[in-house]
Amino acid sequence: MEAFIPFYGRRKGRPLRNTARRLLEEDLPKYLIPKSLHNLTSLFSHQPEKIFLEIGFGGGEHLAKEAKNAPQNGYIGAEPFLNGVGSLLKHCSDKKLDNVRIWPDDIRLQLAAWPIASLDGIFIMFPDPWPKSRHASRRIINKENLAEFARLIKEGGELRMASDHASAKNWILSGIMANPHFSWSVEHPDDWRVKPIQWPETRYMKKAIEEGRKPAWFKFKRLSI
Ligand SMILES: C[S@@+](CC[C@H](N)C(=O)[O-])C[C@H]1O[C@@H](n2cnc3c(N)ncnc32)[C@H](O)[C@@H]1O
Repeated sequence: MEAFIPFYGRRKGRPLRNTARRLLEEDLPKYLIPKSLHNLTSLFSHQPEKIFLEIGFGGGEHLAKEAKNAPQNGYIGAEPFLNGVGSLLKHCSDKKLDNVRIWPDDIRLQLAAWPIASLDGIFIMFPDPWPKSRHASRRIINKENLAEFARLIKEGGELRMASDHASAKNWILSGIMANPHFSWSVEHPDDWRVKPIQWPETRYMKKAIEEGRKPAWFKFKRLSI
């Protein structure tokens, strides 16, 4: 069995504003998902048509917009960065979202307990690139995590990713190519060079584009094999 690699990202940033602190104290408990969850549907107050997971939602812009656009679905977000969790709670409160649930920690502490084929898709927007090869084990796309994503995503479901980092684009694609459960169907360079219009912006995405970097947009399909 592989050794568990700890989470190396930031858990705290600038001191929290009063609103964020209040939302974390008062609202987070309503959105929180328990540990060792065995039934994702039961998390929601409605019967969700589809359930999606966003790993590393950052400020929560992408997750909140997806959830607003499709109230019939359920959205689970994971993010250990507390300031980001506060930001998602603000979006949930402003947009009055009832179809979002939050795991404010490393997603790998949850996934093993989740049932097979329990997700319609996973979103990972602008993952930490960890470009040095000695940090390769910290990358979110590796053999073990991809096998777990393939177990959790239903046949025909989506693994959505984006990155502006050359090294991350490479490790994303080489990981996918080595996994028989996912396919990447592209016909034209614009299929990965142009952002799909319906994908909401993220804070990191905006910064990357403003600074002249060129993200790649990846949509992988969970195959039926
Ligand atoms: C570069 S940021 C991108 C944030 C956001 N998706 C965006 O595009 O603005 C990557 C995020 O992934 C989170 N992250 C990294 N590993 C994670 C894990 N194992 N579980 C949950 N979140 C993780 C980090 O805390 C960080 O906020």
